[in-house]
This record gives sequence, structure tokens and C-alpha cells, in this order.
Amino acid sequence: MDLEYIIFKVEDGIAWIQFNRPDKLNAVNAKVLEELEKILFQCEQDDTVRVIVLRGNEKAFVAGADIKDMAAGDIQSAYALTDLTLRVQERLADLPKPTIAAVSGFALGGGCELALCCDFRIAADNSRLGLPEITLGIIPGGGGTQRLPRLVGLSASAEIILTGESIKAEKALQIGLVNKVVPLPELISETAALAGTLKQRPSMALRAAKTAMRKGLSMSLKEGLHLEQDLFCMLFGTEDKKEGMAAFLEKRKPNYR
Ligand code: COA
Repeated sequence: MDLEYIIFKVEDGIAWIQFNRPDKLNAVNAKVLEELEKILFQCEQDDTVRVIVLRGNEKAFVAGADIKDMAAGDIQSAYALTDLTLRVQERLADLPKPTIAAVSGFALGGGCELALCCDFRIAADNSRLGLPEITLGIIPGGGGTQRLPRLVGLSASAEIILTGESIKAEKALQIGLVNKVVPLPELISETAALAGTLKQRPSMALRAAKTAMRKGLSMSLKEGLHLEQDLFCMLFGTEDKKEGMAAFLEKRKPNYR
């Protein structure tokens, strides 16, 4: 794949997607989003990819959408940018495989929003997360006002979105924005360890669990419980269910396909 702003590799079942526009703190422009879209499509299609990780460099995960591009923009170009952003984010959030954002340095605006689309967020202790759009005269346009309150509640979201001030990793952990804070030098090994655990889980069940949690969030409790029931029962038709339960009864490790 011909990539300018992203480094992409698949190693031992883990897809590593590294934003690589260091001179602009990995700020996201249309080209970055188009590259990410292609990569995510490949990750979805490639059966050898079991877990997907998004990462940046030590100084920045992603410092937001490219402000230089937006400064020249009008209403029409704002729609074009947000259409593309929402399309790529939907692909990321709906991936039927587990996703992890390994955050270090700045994860602001569109960077924070990309991390919000992942199943897990592991933050290095030098991370600063936030949605500073209000300081630029706009509001988050890539899901920030929707995904953040669903994750951390209205009160903590209001603090972040209305002040526009970024928060440190420890505070992000305290409000539930990230799953774990680790020392910067351990970010990649900790992420690989989590990915290693997820890789061992059966893929159909992972997919069903993600669907149940994510779709369930926009349903009534009753509808969500029925969705869960259908997915639970569907898994009884899989080889992995037979293997998982047989392995338990035979006191051995499961060997999922
Ligand atoms: N869009 C475009 N360029 C960006 C950017 C963004 N979101 N974030 C950083 N950059 C660029 C800077 O313009 C600078 O480029 P230059 O060297 O050509 O001038 C380079 O990245 C380094 O950034 P700099 O501001 O010098 O680094 P810093 O360590 O002093 O500050 C930040 C880091 C993240 C606090 C600061 O860059 C910042 O506030 N960025 C914007 C964050 C933001 O508002 N994001 C949401 C956008 S909707």
C-alpha cells in the first residue's frame, strides 16, 4: 500500500497503524483519513489480523484535525471533511475485531475522537487528552460531543468540551476516558500484552460481544436484551463454542480456529 502519513504493519496477528506526520504532531488531514480508511478495510478483510492498534509517536498520538486546512474552509468543505471523518470513524468503531488506541503525548480534537472509536485506550503517562475545538470557535465535529458523554457522562464531558482544556492521563483514568495509564517506555509492550490476550479469544464471540455492547447502547434495555439473547444463541452454532466448553471440561487450553 502506498502510504505517506501512516506506517502500517501486521505482526503476529496484530495490525499496528502508526500516524506519521511528526512535523505537524500527526494532525489529521483528508489524505491521512483516506489512508486510514484503506488500512481499516484491509484489516477487516484480512483473516490473519486479529487485533488492531492505533498509535502515534512519543510527542503526539494525533493533535487534532489540520487547523491550517480548516482555516481556509467554508461550510461546504466542512461538510466534506466531516462526511469523510464520520465514514472512517464508523469503519473503525464497527470493526468486528478488537481495537486499541495506544495514546502518548497529545490526543486532541480528532485524535481524541479516533481514540474514542476504539474499544480500549491505553495512555502513556505523558498523554494530554482533550477536545479544544471550542477555543477555535467551533465544536467537535468527529463524534466528540456524542461519544465522550456516552463514555464518561455529561458532567466530565462538559468540563472537557466547554472549557476546551486538555486533561492529563491520570485525570483521564479517573473519569474513565482511558482504561489504563502506563509509563511512556512501557506503552507499546503493555499494548502488545493486551492485544496478545485479545488474540487468544474466539473471533465470532468477540464480534458478537462488540455488536451487543455497541448496538445495545442506542437501544432500549428491552431491545438490547433481545439482541444479546439472539447473539448468545447464535454462538451455540459455532465450532468455537464447542471447543471452548470441551476444553474447560477436559481441563486444557482451548484451541480456537
Ligand atoms: N493542525 C495543524 N497543525 C498542527 C496542529 C493541528 N491540529 N497541531 C499542531 N500543529 C503543528 C503546529 O502548527 C506546528 O507546525 P509548524 O512547526 O509548521 O508551525 C507543529 O505542529 C508543532 O506544533 P507546536 O504548536 O509548535 O507544538 P507545541 O508543543 O508548542 O504545542 C499543542 C503542542 C498540541 C499544544 C499545539 O500544537 C496545539 O494547540 N495544537 C492544536 C490542537 C488543537 O486545537 N486540535 C484540535 C483541532 S480541531
